[in-house]
Amino acid sequence: MKKLFWILLLFSFNQSFAQLSASDNKRVENLMKKMTLEEKIGQLNQYTGNFLADTPVITAEFKNEDIRNGRVGAILNVKGVKNTRGLQELAMQSRLKIPLLFGNDVLHGLHLIFPIPLAEAASWDLKAIQKSARIAGTESSAYGNHWVFEPMVDIARDPRWGRVMEGAGEDPYLGSLIAAARVKGFQGEKLGDTDAVMATAKHFVAYGAAIGGRDYNTVDMSLPELWNIYLPPFKAAADAGVTAFMNSFNSLNGIPTTGNKYLVREILKGKWNFKGIVVSDWGSVGDMIAHGYVKDDEGAALSAIIAGCDIDMEDQIYKKQLPKLVEEGKIPMKLIDEAVKRILIKKFELGLFDDPFRFANNEREKNVINNPDNIKAARDIAKKSIVLLKNENQLLPLSKDIKTIALIGPHIKSVRENLGFWSTWWPDDSARIISQYQGIKNKVSANTRLLYAKGCEVNDTSTSGFAEAINIAKQSAVVIMSVGEQFDMSGESRSRSDIDIPGVQEELIKAIYATGKPVIVMINAGRPLVFNWTADHVPAILYTWWLGTEAGGAIADVLFGDYNPSGKLPITFPRSIGQIPIYYNHQSTGKPPYNDSVAYYRTGYMDLMQNPKFPFGYGLSYTQFKYSDLELSKSKIKPGEILHVKLNVTNSGKYAGEEVVQLYIHDKVASLVRPIKELKDFQKIFLNPGETKFILFNITKEKLSFYNEKLEFVAEPGDFDIMIGSSSADIRLHSSFELLNQ
Ligand code: BGC
Repeated sequence: MKKLFWILLLFSFNQSFAQLSASDNKRVENLMKKMTLEEKIGQLNQYTGNFLADTPVITAEFKNEDIRNGRVGAILNVKGVKNTRGLQELAMQSRLKIPLLFGNDVLHGLHLIFPIPLAEAASWDLKAIQKSARIAGTESSAYGNHWVFEPMVDIARDPRWGRVMEGAGEDPYLGSLIAAARVKGFQGEKLGDTDAVMATAKHFVAYGAAIGGRDYNTVDMSLPELWNIYLPPFKAAADAGVTAFMNSFNSLNGIPTTGNKYLVREILKGKWNFKGIVVSDWGSVGDMIAHGYVKDDEGAALSAIIAGCDIDMEDQIYKKQLPKLVEEGKIPMKLIDEAVKRILIKKFELGLFDDPFRFANNEREKNVINNPDNIKAARDIAKKSIVLLKNENQLLPLSKDIKTIALIGPHIKSVRENLGFWSTWWPDDSARIISQYQGIKNKVSANTRLLYAKGCEVNDTSTSGFAEAINIAKQSAVVIMSVGEQFDMSGESRSRSDIDIPGVQEELIKAIYATGKPVIVMINAGRPLVFNWTADHVPAILYTWWLGTEAGGAIADVLFGDYNPSGKLPITFPRSIGQIPIYYNHQSTGKPPYNDSVAYYRTGYMDLMQNPKFPFGYGLSYTQFKYSDLELSKSKIKPGEILHVKLNVTNSGKYAGEEVVQLYIHDKVASLVRPIKELKDFQKIFLNPGETKFILFNITKEKLSFYNEKLEFVAEPGDFDIMIGSSSADIRLHSSFELLNQ
């Protein structure tokens, strides 16, 4: 009988999912008419499985029982076709046979690990970023997933916060473009294709503004700040068609976001008309009790469902509380129906009612991994993510024929550290991952002798390995050092009050530098670190973040000049912890900064230079670029008119290379104090030596607009500066124009 029902159900939904349209609603409504309250609430319930494929997929038997009985809508943390298929089969034993959704975190890849998102943002290469998400989406879907909890689009201005590694850095404009690129990448051409997964914009919202950079901490900010800085990447994700949003853990202005009606119900589902799914973060429904916002589970369930959170991740609070809340009339059935409908629509769109196993294909799973084109793409974006911070006397690139090179530091031979945090499914076959040592070895000529010494561990207190390192440095023509953070020093719950290079690694750099040999330092980390001594003394520095599976090859490409570095920092690097938060797009104050003298009426710190160590947008190349011939199409524009900004950029150096030409504006007088500079456009261009390219930027009304005190998005008439540069601090061309009243 059950089988017959399933066949009939399938038959009634046998139109192609790809053609889902208005009839969608009808189908969902028909199904919903058949669902009991318990089954409906089941759709709002998400459980975790065990991370690793070989453990029991789900240990708690009650979860299996709930799946069999239609009390679960989605699962996370189950890897692989075999395991997802197994659980889907359980779901097919349920009365209505509603398929499960399988979701996972694939922050920077699943099997093939890409650079961490902060590193990828340094590439300023939207196509490459989209491609990386596309490949991660393809791999995830081939592993049986329908859903990824990415992209993380939180603006982050505090490098003490461990989760800066997950996002695109500090800038709302760059962050918005990257958010859209990642959404498109994960979701492919359209949901319903078996290589497309549902993407999630997280964490909604302002999680990155946790006070003091302490993870999960309170956020308190003005609404214009929220609208101008923190919301734009989420809006961009919504506009790009993202399927889901995830609540954040923090409270915002006193209200935990999971229970925040203004954010979810009013802004997201209201003003933005978002039709997808809102999922809580792990346990964030129940966290509202710890926040002191609600008294108990009942209060948490009420608050979350009213605010607009559709799925309760792993807390079981919806499952336990919602049935009686509906029965007692404390929440209307239509709230439950609204949430259920959102989820079912996506299941239809994914085609799971046609075939619940359509993502579970053994052949595809086997073939997707180790695809050479994908590996090439991972190496491509890894090299584009590297930022050249310093290169005195053109020490880099190195010749491939150097006789002896000393390779020193704990990251040289490590594999794990390259992958970084959120490489969740590692290890399965670490042999495929080449270390930095191997990458360099593959690159240099047969005549080059490589000497290696670790020197110290990442977080060491001992200097006992220094002697050996000094010894090999002395025997070499040049020294390449690789230092930084351990893979789990930046990430969730990895906030640090001290962001120096950990342990005795900077001591090791000093000891090697003292040998008088030319030294190149690579810093591998998930966040900006503070390394003033190194920055002031060592002649060449590459910021290599955590670059993923292909780190070794990508790093060698840059060191030996097969790739001319083009990365630009997506986040400001401070001079000291005390300077944090520091970001380029801060507002003007009423007072000038300290200069050389200490005086009253000076802003900033009397004991520190006011500028950061390395500014937003900064990154060197092996070549040089000249900017010239800035021309504005008009000196005054009417509202709605487009301003054309034209200039030329010339490669005046010896190497072919890429430059990120950045356009900033400053709204000089406004009803709310505006940032001193705001990135509003950029172009990444490739130039051969001696080549000149013409660049055209179009300044639209939208680019001149901001959310005012009443939260209206307005372009206020008046004077604007236009600044074009190679970084936020290296402005090469400057002009201004007036936006007229009418
Ligand atoms: C994180 C999310 C993640 C979720 C599921 C939470 O702890 O904050 O970013 O998607 O776990 O793994």
